Amino acid sequence: MTRNNPQTREWQALSSDHHLAPFSDFKQLKEKGPRIITRAKGVYLWDSEGNKILDGMAGLWCVAVGYGRDELADAASQQMRELPYYNLFFQTAHPPALELSKAIAEVAPPGMSHVFFTGSGSEGNDTMLRMVRHYWAIKGQPNKKVIISRKNGYHGSTVAGASLGGMTYMHEQGDLPIPGIVHIAQPYWFGEGGDMSPEEFGLWAANQLEEKILEIGVDNVGAFIAEPIQGAGGVIVPPDSYWPRVKEILAKYDILFVADEVICGFGRTGEWFGTDYYGLKPHMMTIAKGLTSGYIPMGGLIVRDDVVAVLNEGGDFNHGFTYSGHPVAAAVALENIRILREEKIIERVHGQTAPYLQKRLRELNDHPLVGEVRGVGLLGAIELVRDKATRQRYEGKGVGMICRQFCFDNGLIMRAVGDTMIIAPPLVISESEIDELVTKARRCLDLTLGALQG
Ligand SMILES: Cc1ncc(COP(=O)(O)O)c(C=O)c1O
Repeated sequence: MTRNNPQTREWQALSSDHHLAPFSDFKQLKEKGPRIITRAKGVYLWDSEGNKILDGMAGLWCVAVGYGRDELADAASQQMRELPYYNLFFQTAHPPALELSKAIAEVAPPGMSHVFFTGSGSEGNDTMLRMVRHYWAIKGQPNKKVIISRKNGYHGSTVAGASLGGMTYMHEQGDLPIPGIVHIAQPYWFGEGGDMSPEEFGLWAANQLEEKILEIGVDNVGAFIAEPIQGAGGVIVPPDSYWPRVKEILAKYDILFVADEVICGFGRTGEWFGTDYYGLKPHMMTIAKGLTSGYIPMGGLIVRDDVVAVLNEGGDFNHGFTYSGHPVAAAVALENIRILREEKIIERVHGQTAPYLQKRLRELNDHPLVGEVRGVGLLGAIELVRDKATRQRYEGKGVGMICRQFCFDNGLIMRAVGDTMIIAPPLVISESEIDELVTKARRCLDLTLGALQG
């Protein structure tokens, strides 16, 4: 299948000469050249060499309705002709943003019927930070500024987003986190649970929240932010004991709870939001990705009505983006939500494809390299280990990267987070495509094991 397309080299030269790629080693990429993706349909991508690749990551967790949906292109084109741009500043609005607010309120948990639009998930979390502090200031408690987050959580790449996130390799660049953001342990039993059972560890990790609130003083804590399931951290599904205990702690103290739904939102767990899956009651939810299926950038912050009631008393909220609620993005998001609803895509994930994917993925547990398979909905993780019983890794071998390369070369995109392989395919993936994904994953695990032994 692989051809030697001279255009690939031309594009790679453009990359080398002119492009600085996100989350990349610029020099290394210059030498190696990126893989060039040229088109996509359904759950498949094609690269510039003509290779067909099953996209096990839905782009970056975002292409919910699959690639190549003409309806989304048509919605964008129609809106561009009608009103390509106007802003939501200075007491103006336009129909797409308003209709989208209503559509989001219809699928969001009860009582969460207002949306502040942004251009991305990171901007959604920046908005959250400012809104939380503004909220407490209006309530006469301006000291409630500290946001508690979690180690290895991911909340974006702006200064606030990266600070809220718990990725130390991001903090190291740019002197982050900014003041007023602290991190507690993550509920990652496989990596950090030691001798504790998952349930014991889940309780321990949840109790870190209470300890941190008491250490800082509840009068200084504004909010706790968390992904219902950590995505970029390695699809970390918390032990069953975790969220119920966190809910108890949140109910006990007067702080806001922010669910970062950028990955879990819009059907990824088989429910509309991760919050629905775990029965959480957030005051705010950050959204992006699945909101537009990634066809066009858009994010936002859904805000609970009792919080809005307080904000209503605070005068101007001095915050916003040129592209907040961009009409073309809003038109695409509206069409995307229409497709998700009318085609009952999330119901199908819930009832059919999520149970099927989880069953098929767990068959990989018998592989000698696999220490754990876990997942919820259409999210999955495969832990690669040297020793299953002790969860010992192949230290320093870069096993995840080896496996990821085999995946690329064998027509599958799986992402590596350290030695954890993760997947999040488009929500429209069929059972036979899931079979293909699991077959390819097993083959790549075999090849990885062979490379380690060879
Ligand atoms: C949970 C979570 N929050 C926030 C973000 C940031 O979103 P964006 O890249 O659109 O700024 C991401 C991106 O992966 C994410 O996974």
